[in-house]
This record gives sequence, C-alpha cells and structure tokens, in this order.
Amino acid sequence: MILRDTERVLVVERMLVGHNKKEGFLKVSSVLTNRPKTKLLVDGGDPEETLRIKSLIGFVDGQTTNPSLIAKNPDIQRRLASGHQLSEQEEKDAYKKIVQSISPLVGDAGVSIEVFADLDSRAAEMLAQGQEMFTWIPNAYVKYPCTHEGLRAAEMSVQKSIRVNMTLCFSQEQAAAVYAATRGSKEPVYVSPFVGRLDDQSEDGMDLVKNIKKMYEGGDGHVHVLAASIRSINHLLCSFFLGAELATVPSKVLQEWAAAGFPRPDKDFTYKAIDAKGKPLKPIPYKELDLNLPWDSFDLAHELTTKGIQKFVADYRSTLRRSA
Ligand code: E4P
Repeated sequence: MILRDTERVLVVERMLVGHNKKEGFLKVSSVLTNRPKTKLLVDGGDPEETLRIKSLIGFVDGQTTNPSLIAKNPDIQRRLASGHQLSEQEEKDAYKKIVQSISPLVGDAGVSIEVFADLDSRAAEMLAQGQEMFTWIPNAYVKYPCTHEGLRAAEMSVQKSIRVNMTLCFSQEQAAAVYAATRGSKEPVYVSPFVGRLDDQSEDGMDLVKNIKKMYEGGDGHVHVLAASIRSINHLLCSFFLGAELATVPSKVLQEWAAAGFPRPDKDFTYKAIDAKGKPLKPIPYKELDLNLPWDSFDLAHELTTKGIQKFVADYRSTLRRSA
C-alpha cells in the first residue's frame, strides 16, 4: 500500500496561495514541507535538467554524474554533432563547467564527480584526479569504483578530508570494504549500490540495499547508502522504505513520481521484486560480515563492476578525438 500525499500538498497550496495571492513561490514551499527522509539526488549530466527538476519538486538535495551521463550532456552532444571530437583537456574543462553549473543548484548532498578509471588505473592516478576535482566546487564528492585500487584511493582521500562516493557497488563484501577503508572519515562517505543493473541480470537489486543497511546497523554510521541505478517509482519507494540515506534518480523517474502526487510507502509497504516482464527476481541472501576486518581481506571482485568500468571508459572515449 502507498500513502499518497497529494491531498495534503494541494490543501497546503490552496491555503497559502489564498492568503498570499501575489506570491506564487509559496506553491513550491508546500512541496518542501513534505520532503522524504531519503535525500534526493538527480542522476544526470545536464544543469538545465537539474533546474527543471528543482522547479518541479521544489528542491534537489544533490546530484550524481558519471562518464556516460556527461557524454550525453546537450552541449557536448552539440559539439560532437558538429564534427568536433574533444581533446582530453576539453573534455575535462567541459566536465568542470557542467559540475560548476550544477553545484549552486543543489543542497548538502553535494555533486558527485567521477574520476576517469580503466581496469589498469592505479590508486595514485585516481587520487590525483580526485584531489583536483575536489577543488572544482565547494560541495564535491569524488567517485571512485569499488575495486582494490579505487578503495586505496578512497582510503587516502578520506585521510586528506576529501569526500568520497564509492560507485559501481554490486556486493555486500564491497560495501564492507568501503566501510573498513574509510573508517575515521570526518565527512559521511557514500556507497552506491546499483539496483537496476542487478535487476537487469534477474537479481533483486533492492536486496543489496537492504543487506548493506542491515550490515551497517552494527557500525558507526560513517557510510551512507546511496541507492543508485534507480529505474522506477517502485525502486524509489523501496529506497524510502529501507531507509536509504540517499537515492539518485533519473529525471524521468522524478517526473513520474511528481505526476503520481509524490507517493510515499506506508509501514505495510511490500516491494514487488519482479522484472519488466513480471518474472520474479532472484533474492540476494544476507551475509554475516565483520566490519572490523581489514578492507583488503574482503573479496572485491564482481563482474558488473568490471563491466561498469569498461562501459564508462567506452562512453568517455566516444567523446574524444582519436589522437586524444
Ligand atoms: C549514479 O551514481 C550511477 O552512476 C547511476 O545511477 C547508474 O545508473 P544506470 O545503471 O542506469 O547507468
């Protein structure tokens, strides 16, 4: 069952607009009063899209970007369509400009910026990029992949007070390693379990979010769960229900959520773990893992992390000049 806030939102709007007929902005503040506990981030690479979502729902807590999303940015696409492939420097400048435009639009969940990493990238190279990206905007989170080298980069980053978002997380072991590698961080660390991509291979991605939340109950709270690769309102409502601290959501799903009247799950909410054809998804069982173990004692390998890195590399390279 789903509780719909539509009526409450409409009543508040009418009341405020009725008392302050000239102050149209009060319509937006009526939505703000009903913010979900889960922080909402826009999953995209276009500042204008972020602005549209902000106008639609009244707020945006943060933003996540990645190389695939940046490659789809309208300005970059226009340049490519006019036959102008980018040099590495131009690509970096474009990425910086995009996040600098998004930065002032979002709240305290910040803007996640992803380092370039292929399967051979070493921690030191990722850290050097992360250090530079962290200076681009005051609310940056640096995204590193949940690999051995990505975790080493994260460990060094938190020691330098660089905020991190550990991306391409597909297993509870990777999330345990994120916890152990970043222990002592002064700022919240994000871990991003990719729900939709697990669903795509018939596993219940929401189970991963649930299992990580349960595992972290025994921890110190320094890692926040950011539900990512969200494909539907169903995923979003389940993220709320499981108490994910954050969710990053494509604008299309946020628009659907707004059109449906900003539904929230009630206490009896049940998540239907089915694929697009209605076939049940395979549950992911919970594992007892010791968060006090050294991070590199966990098995970090996951095929989807490897494939995810390869896809990001391909999308990044698709914008570059051949000689770049
Ligand atoms: C956000 O941080 C992720 O990169 C994003 O949610 C991935 O989504 P996708 O699986 O739809 O590409």
